[in-house]
Amino acid sequence: MKPVYLDYAATTPVDARVLKAMLPYFCEQYGNPSSLYSFGREARQAVGQARRQLASLLGAEPDEIFFTSGGSESDNWVIRSLSEEALRHGGGHIITTKVEHHAVLRACEALPSGIEVTYLDVDSEGRVQPEAVESSLRPDTFLVSVMAANNEVGTIEPIAEIGAICRAHGVFFHTDAVQAVGHIPVSVKEWQVDALSLSGHKLYGPKGIGALYLRRGHKLAPFIHGGEQERGLRAGTENTAGIVGLGEAAAIAAAELAEESARLQGLRDHLFEKLLEIPGVQGNGPREGRLPGNLNLAIDGVDHETLLIRLDLMGFAVSAGSACSAGSLEPSHVLTAMGQAPARAATAIRVTLGRFTTEEEIEAFSQALCQAVHDIRRQAV
Ligand SMILES: Cc1ncc(COP(=O)(O)O)c(C=O)c1O
Repeated sequence: MKPVYLDYAATTPVDARVLKAMLPYFCEQYGNPSSLYSFGREARQAVGQARRQLASLLGAEPDEIFFTSGGSESDNWVIRSLSEEALRHGGGHIITTKVEHHAVLRACEALPSGIEVTYLDVDSEGRVQPEAVESSLRPDTFLVSVMAANNEVGTIEPIAEIGAICRAHGVFFHTDAVQAVGHIPVSVKEWQVDALSLSGHKLYGPKGIGALYLRRGHKLAPFIHGGEQERGLRAGTENTAGIVGLGEAAAIAAAELAEESARLQGLRDHLFEKLLEIPGVQGNGPREGRLPGNLNLAIDGVDHETLLIRLDLMGFAVSAGSACSAGSLEPSHVLTAMGQAPARAATAIRVTLGRFTTEEEIEAFSQALCQAVHDIRRQAV
């Protein structure tokens, strides 16, 4: 059997339809979108079409989309640009959460003095309380940043409620929606967000391309200075093929999201029921209000590193948490924020299903996991 990939939250393969749309932009329509002749015009039109496709998936306007290199850049751009602006007026206050991706957490930690950051707690399922956002607002709060869905435990956050609170108080609201876009319905209007980060490689597009949605009327300082690309806010010759790929990925997601998320949820729930039969297995995160392909398990007495290596040898790729913190000896900051002891957090594995996951793969995985857990426990006695 071919190795089975069950780490779609870390990254997704490029969909063959996406690759097909991208290919002409490498060797045939390779013009610089800023050039005036036909090569440039073709590339410019392709970038424009991708902008419309992506805007449509988010319920946004095309001129509210700015292409970036990915989720990390989009997160950093918002946090740094708004902080610089606040510092020009004497500093200020940011509200975020303890379960954000490191692209948000580390960007906040790196801010100069003069910017204070409140990191909100979450409940035992990883959910942020909208009331906690409201009660933490201060007169000098200039940014609230709460992720739309968690990359480790899949918890979907109450973004529309938080958006309504921020809008009512006139505070800029950003969401890192890298794990949400293409997987659950996203509407920037219903969510009342001012900015939203997304990444191509989480929705079957290529790596190294992403976007920031920025609501009309807002202006950020440029993140990269140089040419006039992206209306002067993000300089550098456009990654035309990547942008085309992201646009195509967005169009496919829009067309297939409802059916595919129901299929994945069914597969995921079936897998969970089977794995619960293994003694000492529990779920981390909520049962409802969770990303359709996400499963996170605590396996009593089984160190996750040992388990992952064994599963890898058996031909199954799953992760211990987020891909970005793989190799780190620290327990997951998400699970500890959810109130778990480090010893339990050290047993967590994340299994994430996606577009190419089949029933056969799920059956084979549940047998392999059962066997691996059994073997590790037997060796431990
Ligand atoms: C929630 C979240 N935010 C941001 C990122 C970073 O995105 P990128 O890899 O495109 O920089 C990731 C990737 O794992 C993520 O899961």
